[in-house]
Amino acid sequence: MPKKILVLGNSNVDVILKIPRFHDPGETILATDRITVFGGKGANQAITAKQLGGDTLLVTKVGKDLYGKSYRQYLIKKGLNRRLILADKKIPTGMAVIELTPEGENRIIASLGANGSLSQNDLKLLGRYWKGVGVFVTQLEIPISTVQTGLEMAKEQGVLTLLNPSPPVPLSSKTLSSVDFIVPNEMEAQLLTGIKWRENKDIHKIAKRLFEMGPKNVVITLGSKGLLFKNQDEEIRMKAFKVKVIDTTAAGDAFMGALACGLSQGKSIREVLEFANAAGALATTKLGAQPSLPQKRELDIFLKGIQR
Ligand code: RIB
Repeated sequence: MPKKILVLGNSNVDVILKIPRFHDPGETILATDRITVFGGKGANQAITAKQLGGDTLLVTKVGKDLYGKSYRQYLIKKGLNRRLILADKKIPTGMAVIELTPEGENRIIASLGANGSLSQNDLKLLGRYWKGVGVFVTQLEIPISTVQTGLEMAKEQGVLTLLNPSPPVPLSSKTLSSVDFIVPNEMEAQLLTGIKWRENKDIHKIAKRLFEMGPKNVVITLGSKGLLFKNQDEEIRMKAFKVKVIDTTAAGDAFMGALACGLSQGKSIREVLEFANAAGALATTKLGAQPSLPQKRELDIFLKGIQR
């Protein structure tokens, strides 16, 4: 029987600025369009898992500003438990400014806002919500002390832990050894290990180093180059699906949410990676974070007509 998924993470309002190209320091350029959508890695990952059929809980914090109020209502409407969607009385909702080029590449600046006040203390409310949870998911856009406590609580409950180390910060061996699956992108994996990806074989060195740092399983997402999985027993290299890329924002979150969903359903590692790989690819075919997250039916149809 599928287990529950508990996501601990941030919620942001994303302001997407479409720009002709990434510009230089000191240079002003005009955006060709501006779109505001709901985002934030934590919420994106939870919504993906939920849309793909996972029984999902999200612990997050918004502000009590207008954005926060409408975001909270939206998350509740999406079926996430209202008691775990907290609101800070003083600090505004987190916000991200996303620069997006015509090639679909992005650069993100996130301002934590209320996400920065999601504290260890807030996790005390989780008590009975751990019942039935099999997979715990978190990232690094909330205080690291909260991430650490969440991981420890999950381990005490015997739950599988997934960490998306984004944005990358140095992590203690205590944190890393309480992680069952670490899921960085290629940039984050290089920063965490200090190994540069200069030639093809370096990615294997990076995965090996990350594995030696403590996590039991390493999944490095490589964008259009697919992914690399490594654990004690095997290494799997999987190609990316060929799609028309519009915007890569939240592709990693779609991957992460689908990975959590597949693991909660007891799928084999190859099946889970294929499922997550497809979810990530689909998310790149639409603009924005949450508007691009795949639905189960869409993903099933996509996987049936596989084209790489
Ligand atoms: O991973 C994409 C997300 O990162 C965006 O939605 C933005 O809010 C930041 O958290």
